[in-house]
Amino acid sequence: MDVQQVFENNKEWVQSKLDIDPKYFEELAKGQQPPILYIGCSDSRVSAEQLMGLGPGQVFVHRNIANMVPNADLNVMSVLNYAVAHLKVDHVVVCGHYYCGGVKAAMQSADLGILNPWLRNIRDVYRTHQDELDKIADEDSRYKRLIELNVQEQCINVAKTPEVQAAKKDRAIKVHGWVFDIGTGKLIDLNIDIDAVTDKFSDIYKID
Ligand code: CO
Repeated sequence: MDVQQVFENNKEWVQSKLDIDPKYFEELAKGQQPPILYIGCSDSRVSAEQLMGLGPGQVFVHRNIANMVPNADLNVMSVLNYAVAHLKVDHVVVCGHYYCGGVKAAMQSADLGILNPWLRNIRDVYRTHQDELDKIADEDSRYKRLIELNVQEQCINVAKTPEVQAAKKDRAIKVHGWVFDIGTGKLIDLNIDIDAVTDKFSDIYKID
């Protein structure tokens, strides 16, 4: 790929925006108030704004391998803090995707060096749901289910944070778990009732 093409694409994109609204970038430069924080996978096929049909200014985005929300990851915790406590988003989305290489790697026993501690977080999800997962004989179905359960566990990690706990008290912030199906292009809402899931152990993570 000729990287110079990117700059040509950019010129065309700028012009297409200005054709519709000559003040588009002037307005964009004034600030942001996105209603959604999206936490997704870095996978090149899962394109955040594009798959949601949203544009600049509409969604605050964090992406990493396998859309993880590890409790001690300064990067995702900083994004969460800024989006929830400062930008005051109303929705936090954790979006996984079928055919996720990160989740696939976690299901195998290969030594992947620096990726090991990251993937171990996914292996912890497997351990937490081992009874259910081990009963699924078909490997592809088990892989898909682990992707869904990983999204659920990362939603719990979001809900556990003091920022989200505080935001729940002063506004109706919602945590959503979604999966993008690369094979069809469809976005699937896992309909996780995060309050029902976290109510059971809310006292453990409570910060007053
Ligand atoms: Co992925």
